[in-house]
Amino acid sequence: MQIDINKISNSRIAEVDFNQLGFGKVFADHMLVAEYADGKWQKATIQPYGPLSFQPAMMSLHYGQAIFEGMKAYRSDAGDILVFRPEENWKRFNKSAARMCMPEVPEDIFLGGLKELLKLDKNWVPSQDGCSLYIRPFMFATDEYVGVTPSSTYKFIIFNCPVGSYYAKPLRVKIETEYIRAAKGGVGFAKNAGNYGGSLFPTQLANKEGYDQIIWTDAATHTYVEEAGTMNLMFIIDGALVTAPTGDTILDGVTRKSVLQVAKDWGMDVQERLLSVEELVKGIESGKVQEAFGAGTAAVIAPIQTIGYNGKDYDLPERKPDGFSAKVYQEINDIRLGKKTDTRNWIWKA
Ligand code: COI
Repeated sequence: MQIDINKISNSRIAEVDFNQLGFGKVFADHMLVAEYADGKWQKATIQPYGPLSFQPAMMSLHYGQAIFEGMKAYRSDAGDILVFRPEENWKRFNKSAARMCMPEVPEDIFLGGLKELLKLDKNWVPSQDGCSLYIRPFMFATDEYVGVTPSSTYKFIIFNCPVGSYYAKPLRVKIETEYIRAAKGGVGFAKNAGNYGGSLFPTQLANKEGYDQIIWTDAATHTYVEEAGTMNLMFIIDGALVTAPTGDTILDGVTRKSVLQVAKDWGMDVQERLLSVEELVKGIESGKVQEAFGAGTAAVIAPIQTIGYNGKDYDLPERKPDGFSAKVYQEINDIRLGKKTDTRNWIWKA
């Protein structure tokens, strides 16, 4: 599809302190906006990042037909802009779209549009240590209608944020046994807005108890560990890498699958299996659980320091520089920055 370009006249980049980025509050100059109507994508435009107007009856605001993705771009030492596995995000986006009765976004809009956008906003890709350009594609229903039915019109947008770390320190997480994130047959595998909205209240309660995040457990019995909502969860148990299998209730994370691939390539025992809360907490007490960490695009590899369960805190051993999570972080980071040969074909040069 032809992408029309309407450039900004003055960049805001000089106002930004790239040494104090935080996460998600600074926005690059441009955004891509594509519109769907009459059964097809009609047009795509790159325009200045800024407000959109909509009607109060816009359907996505009422019934939650809204999905998104998260990807990251890095600046290599040679000055190239490298995006980590964006085809995977594109495929997952379209799986979320199908589940939410939304149209697929074709490659020339999702990836082609991103390429054009990154050409214009390449100066916004940070080079500071631990920083990247977080790319946020999303789509929402735009019909002005109050009946509960799939919309016939949609907007697909990509905007970009230069970011630092999502989590600044090792995490204290609480095993949730009252509220649930996702149930079999539901939308837990999709990256739809409602999954995140539903997590806010229980997370706020956990925050009040001094935890940073929640570990969700299976909705039916609260027996098994699932994911953290902002990231997949991984454990090193007796030297093996253990993570919950993907399915209806777990997001098929791109960082998750990359970590599993690296571990397999390193000859590790990789177990995608159910892990009960009991096995986890007993394993921490007995020293069998050597590491716990989250894996996600925003979170990258987020070490877990403490797991709270039933009013008791279980502390993980101190993170070792030669432990798996530190080594896999280094490996993936080196690939993303173009410092290591990309033997797995994960890097997409913008
Ligand atoms: C991501 O990792 O890209 C996500 O979408 C998680 C979100 C909580 C920032």
